[in-house]
Amino acid sequence: MKVTVVGAGAVGASCAEYIAIKNFASEVVLLDIKEGFAEGKAMDLMQTASLNGFDTKITGVTNDYSKTADSDICVITSGIPRKPGMTREELIGINAGIVKDVSSNLVKHSPKTIIIVVSNPMDTMAYLVHKTSGLDKNKIIGMGGALDSARFKYRLAEALGAPISDVDGMVIGGHSDTGMVPLTRLATRNSVPVTKFISEERMNQVMEDTKVGGATLTKLLGTSAWYAPGAAVSALVQAIACDQKKMFPCSVMLNGEYGMKDICIGAPVILGRNGIEKIVELELNDAEKAHMKESAEGVRKTNDLLEL
Ligand SMILES: NC(=O)c1ccc[n+]([C@@H]2O[C@H](COP(=O)([O-])OP(=O)(O)OC[C@H]3O[C@@H](n4cnc5c(N)ncnc54)[C@H](O)[C@@H]3O)[C@@H](O)[C@H]2O)c1
Repeated sequence: MKVTVVGAGAVGASCAEYIAIKNFASEVVLLDIKEGFAEGKAMDLMQTASLNGFDTKITGVTNDYSKTADSDICVITSGIPRKPGMTREELIGINAGIVKDVSSNLVKHSPKTIIIVVSNPMDTMAYLVHKTSGLDKNKIIGMGGALDSARFKYRLAEALGAPISDVDGMVIGGHSDTGMVPLTRLATRNSVPVTKFISEERMNQVMEDTKVGGATLTKLLGTSAWYAPGAAVSALVQAIACDQKKMFPCSVMLNGEYGMKDICIGAPVILGRNGIEKIVELELNDAEKAHMKESAEGVRKTNDLLEL
């Protein structure tokens, strides 16, 4: 199992670290455009191997795609992150060029690869890879919902005063401050609906805190977060690498599901060795459907800025 991670910055390095610590991949190649940067991150991470007990070999390369050849999974984290006060959508100008270029180089050297898109605005970047890479649609996965759901569960546990392991919940829709659709109706504490324990007012607060989860951290850190994003990517990579058939909300190209076509947006999918093996269609209520529709309008507006 060979995994390439493009972008050895905060998210890329964190993702490589979590993949290595979970010890399921034989090799992780970190690639960055900044001279020596990926080599340095890889060496630093390899020096944690004896301490953390992993055998995954991490190597770093400066823009040399020949070293990524025959990767089973490639993760794209290259591009600029947002600064406090910015939306993810504002990153499109710079990141679209980077993502297009990087995905075409990856596919040239690993024509059978599965690509996980992380760079923002993620739903639009996943759409761009669909339109330009030539890969089958099950092989292009946008990571957003796995992270947003982890943040949702964190906020739910906080509101419940419960450990996070007691809580289950999912966020679908676009990966943006306004587009996320946290499914509060379906969230549970040990299979009991959380709405039994949390007032409507507190639940609205949980929803809002979840939606601005990234922006809150960007304000605190001065740049966007990396631990939870890296962990979320590593969970998707592991589900594919180990053929786990696990369900995650991911940005997926819809073709009629949820009444939408020609759009990448967050919906639950089953991940296994073939990438997206199934799109799970939930029965949404009218409010959730309306929220999803509004979310899709936002994603389409950003997609329209692409020069395809
Ligand atoms: N989808 C999500 O849930 C999610 C979560 C967090 C961050 N992000 C996004 O991930 C991206 C990376 O964030 P970060 O905090 O790691 O940023 P960062 O600045 O720490 O790292 C980005 C890296 O990309 C490299 N890079 C730029 N152009 C490149 C190219 N053409 N080829 C190879 N490498 C290139 C840079 O040199 C840098 O090291 C941002 O767009 C951010 O918004 C997405």
